[in-house]
Amino acid sequence: MRQAGRYLPEYRALRSEAGSFLSLCYDPVLATEISLQPVRRFGLDGIILFSDILVIPDALGLDLAFKEGEGPVLQTVGTAAEIPIWEPDRFHRHLAPVYETVSKIMEQAPADATLIGFAGAPWTVATYMVEGGASKDFSRVKAWAFAEPKSFQRLIDLLIETTVEYLSAQIKAGAEAVQLFDSWAGVLPEQAFARWCVAPARAIVERLKAVYPGVPVIGFPRGAGLGYVTFAREAGIDAIGLDHAIPPAWAARELQPGHVVQGNLDPIMLLVGGKPMLEEAGRILEALAAGPHVFNLGHGVLPQTPPENVAELAEFIRRWRR
Ligand code: CP3
Repeated sequence: MRQAGRYLPEYRALRSEAGSFLSLCYDPVLATEISLQPVRRFGLDGIILFSDILVIPDALGLDLAFKEGEGPVLQTVGTAAEIPIWEPDRFHRHLAPVYETVSKIMEQAPADATLIGFAGAPWTVATYMVEGGASKDFSRVKAWAFAEPKSFQRLIDLLIETTVEYLSAQIKAGAEAVQLFDSWAGVLPEQAFARWCVAPARAIVERLKAVYPGVPVIGFPRGAGLGYVTFAREAGIDAIGLDHAIPPAWAARELQPGHVVQGNLDPIMLLVGGKPMLEEAGRILEALAAGPHVFNLGHGVLPQTPPENVAELAEFIRRWRR
């Protein structure tokens, strides 16, 4: 959950050297170093590959820029005619530096740390492609999906295909688990959630499991609320990331039987630090202690987070005993 990023001075130093965020993503030496920065500083058990979910549309040839203070700006796909044509060779050539980063991290990582590769889930990546960046109401992408589900399905199918290819290449390069980030799963009503979030996740998991049955797949249907139950039951994932609005005791009852759960401290607690942060972390650990649990945040670390608070939290988690 953005454990690498702007809140770390050592990240900001490398970013100003590289010039832009995207050039960091495609530089295996710098991306390896950045992936390992939080692991070295805090002694974390998990390493998340440093990259972004939008490298897939970038590799499909859509213009992408990250503007300071604005977030991503992406060439839009508004109709079926604008869906890019997938050229596998060009796609993998473009993403080869990411695969190389995965291998380099595995060479340099502490032996007991696990490397997690990732991709955006098709629905979330489609929201950025159709809206051209962040969105408040998702009106364009939802209107397309609701009005013309057959043509929207073509975009989702392309993203299923490319995501399977991209995650398979990360696994081949050494990723030990993979996570699918469906950051905007929470904006869809029931039927649309089943079709555009659950079904694509299941298609991706089935195809990965056919080739790599031993590699755990983590799903993160952020904001899905009660939809978490459907997602856990039907997507075929091994582990599920909880956003910070999911009550841990509810997750223990409804999700932990059958799934590893990951989560779910509100990242704002890391701005506060001290007693409120540690008490909340303790409540989460206690509520999820009877089943398999990977402690994590409910969403990404914010740029204004004091690194000392992350250190304090990591130390607390390591020492915690029921
Ligand atoms: O440690 C890590 O988690 C690093 C790897 C990582 C990044 N993005 C790096 C990043 C991961 C796993 C992501 C996922 C990602 N990217 C998601 C899904 C998770 C989520 O947050 O819901 C999404 C929706 C994106 C798209 C994206 N990338 C946005 C909306 C932004 C701008 C947000 C902002 O804070 O400016 C990014 C940029 C981005 N991705 C940064 C980092 C470290 C900040 C880049 C910078 O300014 O240096």
